[in-house]
Amino acid sequence: MEILGLNIKSVIDLKNADIYQGDKLILEDVNLNIKEAEFSYLIGDTGSGKSSLLQTIYGELPLKKGSGIVAGQDLTELKYKTKHLFRRNLGMIFQQFNLIKSWSVYQNLDYALRALEWTDKKIRESRIKEIILDTGLQKKINTKIFELSGGEQQRVAIARALLNRPQLLIADEPTGSLDRNSGDELMYLIKRIATENQTAVIFATHDLRIVEKFPALTYICKEGKLLSVD
Ligand SMILES: Nc1ncnc2c1ncn2[C@@H]1O[C@H](COP(=O)(O)OP(=O)(O)O)[C@@H](O)[C@H]1O
Ligand SMILES: [Mg+2]
Repeated sequence: MEILGLNIKSVIDLKNADIYQGDKLILEDVNLNIKEAEFSYLIGDTGSGKSSLLQTIYGELPLKKGSGIVAGQDLTELKYKTKHLFRRNLGMIFQQFNLIKSWSVYQNLDYALRALEWTDKKIRESRIKEIILDTGLQKKINTKIFELSGGEQQRVAIARALLNRPQLLIADEPTGSLDRNSGDELMYLIKRIATENQTAVIFATHDLRIVEKFPALTYICKEGKLLSVD
């Protein structure tokens, strides 16, 4: 898209994409275009296909029909062997925090950076300190995960997702297991960090209270289609 000579890049560009779980067609003829630094919701009832769409976007489900480019990667050409390299451009958070509970916040983040092949310990340390500050976890850096509240654990998961400065944050119901206050805090955090870092966000939720309180571009999965909501 060209506006006043500025080229705004797409981070997600799906065209006429069919979303399958195995042989079962979940969403038909999906067209979805998300630009860099754009925040979008994905809403719809349970079972409507939100997670399936996100799984296709992060390369967990194959794109069998239609075209799809995500963070510069053609989804139809994604290979099992190089999937982890593609994922380095994505941050992902889920309802479950998927942290190692007996480890500290620092250990969890350091482990993630080592998996990303950040081999220099000093550089890892400096990045962890930076993201810890960004996510307001200074006082928890040496605390074990199981000693944190749900909201704090999700903040650690966000910190981990953003370590590699991804172009795109994919969030699948990240407030699903949090109470209202922790959910709101998480929204403020995600919105602030995404704006500061120009990270695009696709945020699946069936919690319409959040969508009303923090309005943004919204798409809905409904009756096997993806529609935009005005
Ligand atoms: N691993 C799976 N295998 C087969 N069918 C699945 C799988 N996961 C989800 N489905 C089906 O796909 C449809 C969409 O589910 P899902 O994408 O999880 O929806 P949502 O995230 O909106 O709740 C549902 O009918 C669900 O039963
Ligand atoms: Mg889901």
